[in-house]
Amino acid sequence: MRILGIESSCDETAAAVVDDGSRILSNIIASQFDLHRPFGGVVPEVAARAHAEKITAVIDEALAASHSRPEQIDAISAVNRPGLVGSLLVGVSAAKALALAWKKPLVGVDHIQGHVYASMLAGFQRLPHIALIVSGGHTSLYKVEAPERASIVGQTADDAAGEAFDKVAKMLNLGFPGGPALSKLAAGAPVEARGLFKHISAMAGAADRKGDLDFSFSGLKTAVYYHLRGTSRGRGALRELKDEERIAVAASFEETACELMVTKSLLACERFGIKGLAVGGGVACNQRLRTMFKERAAEEVFFPPPVLCTDNAAMSAGLAFHLLKSSGPSGLDLDADPTPQRAWTTA
Ligand code: KG4
Ligand code: ZN
Repeated sequence: MRILGIESSCDETAAAVVDDGSRILSNIIASQFDLHRPFGGVVPEVAARAHAEKITAVIDEALAASHSRPEQIDAISAVNRPGLVGSLLVGVSAAKALALAWKKPLVGVDHIQGHVYASMLAGFQRLPHIALIVSGGHTSLYKVEAPERASIVGQTADDAAGEAFDKVAKMLNLGFPGGPALSKLAAGAPVEARGLFKHISAMAGAADRKGDLDFSFSGLKTAVYYHLRGTSRGRGALRELKDEERIAVAASFEETACELMVTKSLLACERFGIKGLAVGGGVACNQRLRTMFKERAAEEVFFPPPVLCTDNAAMSAGLAFHLLKSSGPSGLDLDADPTPQRAWTTA
């Protein structure tokens, strides 16, 4: 079964063609970074308009690159939640129009469930497993029973991991998108320069010992802010830093953020007696996170290739194959829904 998938939940316009939930025939991603850079973050109205301008060309390219004619496509999937509602609407409307015109089934897909499926699409077969999804908008742990069945076991109480990377990058004047820029700056820092915010992970330790699986990144973000302001009271401008100090702040933030992610994920594996762990979402591109998991985990830890970690349509086109088999198609009244789900089950 060949599925054309469409993804437009945030600032990437993407389309992909995937056979039988496993073979990626094409995976086209048009990023909007240049449009949002002057604003230092994603502007919802700008994102929706850019999706509308690009979506047909991106779908055409995905079909051409997969050497598929419309009659060879068996179903159309669209990410319909969660995300920016104006952005989601563009992909959902395009998918509905094609499903109607080509008389193909339509499948609505959850974006985060797609991030969870990315590792299975990339070949990770172990079930059940724990999935850590760390992106710009979401940070959660899932117990995954099957591609179409998972439930949340831990989540962030405040910022998403990617959001914290982006905000700290902004404090360091690293531009947009901040996460990759921050980790590039941190890459050269020696271990001794990575300990400025160790007290934050030490404080989180008490909650860890109680088995709490929820994350918090705002304390770490605030610690960076006060470090840069140089005082814990009153108002003050952020200090100009020397290069060496800037690298140490970036690397120390990265180190502690990664520690928080790794510790909770391993705690979840221990709590549920599950040996396999998969990581997904844009922050899963982070090299320090990858090595820290390798250093600390006794269990098998799987990372999809970076192109399947950041937003893409292949993960949702792959997942749609399983959703179609287990629950059948969505109706043409499928709507965009900005809110995240706590669990996914077979209908
Ligand atoms: O999954 P994704 O592409 O989009 C969302 O669904 O949010 O994730 C984007 C997030 C951004 O916050 C970005 O800064 C972060 O992933 N990111 C990184 C790295 N690459 C992307 N964060 C840390 N290190 C990286 N190498
Ligand atoms: Zn995402």
